[in-house]
Amino acid sequence: MNTEKMNKNQPGGKADQFSKSGFILAAIGSAVGLGNMWKFPYITGQYGGAAFFLLFIVCLVAVGLPVLLAELAIGRGGRGSAASSFIKVGGHKAWGGMGMLSVIGSFMIMSFYAIVAGWTFHYAIRSFSGKLFSNSDFGAQFGGFISGYTPILWQAVVLLITGWIVARGISGGIEKFNKVLIPGLLLLLIILMVRALTLPGAAAGVEFFLKPDFSKLTPESALVALGHAFFSLSLGMGAMMTYGSYVDRKQSLGSATLAIGGGDLFYAFIAGLIIFPTTFSFGIDQAQGPTLVFIALPAAFSAMPLGSLFGGLFFVLLAIAALTSTVSLIEVPVAFSMERWGLSRSKAVWIIIAGCFLLGLPSALSFGLIPGLTFGGKSFFDWMDFLASNILLPLGGLIVTVFAGYFWKGVGKEAGLTAGWFRVWLFMLRFVAPILVLFVFLHSAGIIKF
Ligand code: PFF
Repeated sequence: MNTEKMNKNQPGGKADQFSKSGFILAAIGSAVGLGNMWKFPYITGQYGGAAFFLLFIVCLVAVGLPVLLAELAIGRGGRGSAASSFIKVGGHKAWGGMGMLSVIGSFMIMSFYAIVAGWTFHYAIRSFSGKLFSNSDFGAQFGGFISGYTPILWQAVVLLITGWIVARGISGGIEKFNKVLIPGLLLLLIILMVRALTLPGAAAGVEFFLKPDFSKLTPESALVALGHAFFSLSLGMGAMMTYGSYVDRKQSLGSATLAIGGGDLFYAFIAGLIIFPTTFSFGIDQAQGPTLVFIALPAAFSAMPLGSLFGGLFFVLLAIAALTSTVSLIEVPVAFSMERWGLSRSKAVWIIIAGCFLLGLPSALSFGLIPGLTFGGKSFFDWMDFLASNILLPLGGLIVTVFAGYFWKGVGKEAGLTAGWFRVWLFMLRFVAPILVLFVFLHSAGIIKF
């Protein structure tokens, strides 16, 4: 499709693409996000500790990496948005509809992801200023905050920063920003990890996170682990496909896949080494779910020396991780609208940002301001999360595996693997990934239950 038009619209007026290292860092930035720092710790707490972590690694390697490579290859082969890349390499218009699912899905994820990202900004500032610790009922504080108007303000801030970065283009915006923030994130993680590991009683947390007890696993743990491998690697939403379209033909996609997967796992590992020692040291229940980092951790920070500094750093870390993911989410519909409607990059960015803000409003308000915003027992926020993460994301992943495994003739050439690795990859794409992803899909859609 109109790749030329798209490229003309990039800053600089010619093809705008990632440098080699810029691409790896940006893709790691997309993968590392609230999924690693907020979701991974609480699901590990809920679904089996170290045994769950192990399962997550297996899913990441056996299913996540093959699908990641397939997405990157489709994007680079098609050199367009998620929709047109599918059509270009698939040779049939019908595939465009499949790509459209990702455009819609990433837009939906963005609408509620920006809200949670906004919470982290608010918490960072309140922690540094010490206000967070002036009232020790952290549950009531969090409840009061999310049911008020302030989250809307922070949602707007997250969207404006995201828009500002993405409007600057691929090399001058997304790449530049990730090159600074991903190493910055690592530094913060290491500082906080050292703090957590030196807390009294930290060893029990390390044991919970790293010493597997397989009796804690349930069949559900496996499905949650696989679903999370997808979410964590930013798969099924066209994000990696869109980033793939800005990668140089000479770059090896196989090694990029390993670097991105390794990076994602490494950041999740360190996040675990911060959260579990901290919660164990302060006797906090790590299986309490999504509120873990907003309610339990402030309690821990309030009881530690220099807690407002460490708490503030922790929430800054979450905010940075979130931003490096929101830029990739927004790029999916942005690339699509530039290509489909010939919009300039900045016009496309601000239209999409405004759309995400509007779609996010009912989610932001569903925590209390509009109590009636609940359908079938789920709030608007929960519905957005459910539809995007549990339906569109696994469905998108399934389509990618089937497409790359069975329909795309040029898949081997684009992926550029050695003959042996290619065989392994194709086997995983054809036989292992689709079956497992189908299970995740049926389970998360509520069609099968354990
Ligand atoms: N991988 C991101 C995280 O772990 O927070 C979330 C995400 C980003 C999912 C981009 C999907 C996506 F397209």
